[in-house]
Amino acid sequence: LLKEFSEEDISKLFSDFSCPLNTDVQDFLINKSLRFEESDKARTYLILSEITGNILGYFSLSFKELSVKQFQVSKTKIRRLDGISKEADKINTYLIGQIGKNYSDVNNTLNLKNIMESVWVVINEARALIGGRVVILECQNIDKLVALYETEGFTLLVSPSSDDKLLTLYTIVTT
Ligand SMILES: CC(C)(COP(=O)(O)OP(=O)(O)OC[C@H]1O[C@@H](n2cnc3c(N)ncnc32)[C@H](O)[C@@H]1OP(=O)(O)O)[C@@H](O)C(=O)NCCC(=O)NCCS
Repeated sequence: LLKEFSEEDISKLFSDFSCPLNTDVQDFLINKSLRFEESDKARTYLILSEITGNILGYFSLSFKELSVKQFQVSKTKIRRLDGISKEADKINTYLIGQIGKNYSDVNNTLNLKNIMESVWVVINEARALIGGRVVILECQNIDKLVALYETEGFTLLVSPSSDDKLLTLYTIVTT
């Protein structure tokens, strides 16, 4: 992000971004993404229109230790997540911290599938360099959103507290 644009260009781009379905997604891009970038806490990637140059969508990537004990996970699944041990209780994962499209552009045809294609380009580069096999994301407890992620190959981790506001979904990449 910072490599490609000046801070002035970035504020101009951000001023046009709107995501009313999830104000955290909007707030992160506008108010936090630069700080996260500068402090190396996460990397944010913008998907821009080739025609207008405006933001069509964005995603932020980082990593997070997943504590499997929080979830109802079989030993077989733990082994698949860890890659080696069925006794592991902490798994290193890539985290899709934010993902969203720009609703201020009424003709915006970007969808989750398109955004995930770009996510995989970045994660596959990182995997080739340093390994890692699990990608997670945390999402609001909204059936439609969960179903959408499931179509992209993510699986819900079942938590004993079913009223959790944030759900965790994962996918294992092994190729
Ligand atoms: C996630 C996203 C990029 C997917 O885009 P998409 O593939 O084009 O899918 P849609 O936007 O059509 O979403 C599918 C359905 O889920 C609903 N939905 C998506 N995000 C939602 C949210 N945060 N809250 C409530 N409903 C939501 C949509 O309204 C849509 O419902 P519909 O089928 O009745 O129209 C886009 O929905 C988005 O930017 N959502 C807001 C940000 C967000 O919630 N990000 C996920 C954080 S984990």
